[in-house]
Amino acid sequence: MANVVVVGAQWGDEGKGKIVDWLSEQADVVVRFQGGHNAGHTLVIGGTVYKLSLLPSGVVRPGKLSVIGNGVVLDPHALAGEVERLTGQGVSITRENLRVAENATLILSVHRELDALRESGSAGTKIGTTKRGIGPAYEDKVGRRAIRLMDLADLSSLPEKIERMLTHHNALRRGFGLDEFSADAIYEELASVAPKVLPYMDAVWRLLDDQRRAGKRILFEGAQGALLDVDHGTYPFVTSSNTVAGQAATGSGLGPGGVGYVLGIAKAYTTRVGEGPFPTELFDEVGELIGQKGKEFGVVTGRKRRCGWFDATLVRQTVSTSGIDGIALTKLDILDGFETIKIGVGYKLDGETIDYFPASQGAQARVEPIYEEIEGWSGSTAGARSWADLPAQAIKYVRRIEELIGAPVAVLSTSPERDDTILMKNPFEG
Ligand code: IMO
Ligand code: MG
Repeated sequence: MANVVVVGAQWGDEGKGKIVDWLSEQADVVVRFQGGHNAGHTLVIGGTVYKLSLLPSGVVRPGKLSVIGNGVVLDPHALAGEVERLTGQGVSITRENLRVAENATLILSVHRELDALRESGSAGTKIGTTKRGIGPAYEDKVGRRAIRLMDLADLSSLPEKIERMLTHHNALRRGFGLDEFSADAIYEELASVAPKVLPYMDAVWRLLDDQRRAGKRILFEGAQGALLDVDHGTYPFVTSSNTVAGQAATGSGLGPGGVGYVLGIAKAYTTRVGEGPFPTELFDEVGELIGQKGKEFGVVTGRKRRCGWFDATLVRQTVSTSGIDGIALTKLDILDGFETIKIGVGYKLDGETIDYFPASQGAQARVEPIYEEIEGWSGSTAGARSWADLPAQAIKYVRRIEELIGAPVAVLSTSPERDDTILMKNPFEG
């Protein structure tokens, strides 16, 4: 019985939430393994809209165990707030259905402020982040000065840990000419929220090992996308975690053999939020139209997303870096009614033709896409639930994408509604 990991195959916002929610029907456990509340996953279930940032998408379904793994950076206030908001929508969240890794790194106000400071600062430091403190928290984790969830269970050990962390942060603050952080204020911030998050704490590696041995099906829910991966993405315009599928193993404590089928989610076009290279970006009315039809505004920050044509070169690359077995292609209906549709199939770089996205920041900014043009379709794909419902030209577009990216389309999503989904291959049947 295979487990499944769902990862973004572009720059995030591919519609992972819907696919994870849809797959969670077959899963027993849903696990987040990286990122934090920078993710924005929208679920539409029977007309009700749920917006999740930190909680695994399985949480809205009764009887599923949701797990936040050690690879996640956890803002305890954001967790408490999201639990409260969903509870208000009638979702039950208790230790029965939510566990959080004891060794997850915490995001504190220190991190949020530093993130915002860099974003507002002089040119050169702006990445266009979500200002949630994600990057600074990961820095403290690898810098070995982070506070972790388990530390809240032993408040007497906290002051020393806070001092250690502040030695670093207050030196930075002084450098920026800002007031130093007070250790007492941070202690208070943590002590006050501890009772709200500690009930969910667990040794997640062991929990997942038990679940796996008991034959339970585990679904790993990626946040962001492979092109935002700190190693494989468009560095430095990336998020601060590994977002590729391999991270599901390290970010949960289950070995790589437990990860199973890799389902990459890709939109039928491309979007990006924040700064950074985007070869097939459209600056004309076509880009505007895609953005409007696709409602391309961020769930987390409300920012308008940049829009462009599907870039097969990029997705072919993320098929490699994430080991994607199959793709869930989303939002095909947004391309309904276009006379012609373009697909990026390669790049020109300094007069040469290349079939990959180069690693250097300079080269990434210089590449120019090479397009293939295909005829659009006049019929509608919105809400289609079988291949037979699709216009022939739309099928041709999907088939061409499969050829170019070197992976099959296993799932086609034709609206935000859970049931508007065409299944070619069930990822859980490996
Ligand atoms: P979901 O899970 C799209 C982007 C930010 C910024 C960069 C770094 O909804 O697909 P960060 O706050 O992570 O340090 O910001 O990463 N970014 C996302 N873009 N979808 C997301 O998540 C994102 N999470 C972060 O816009 O460019
Ligand atoms: Mg998002």
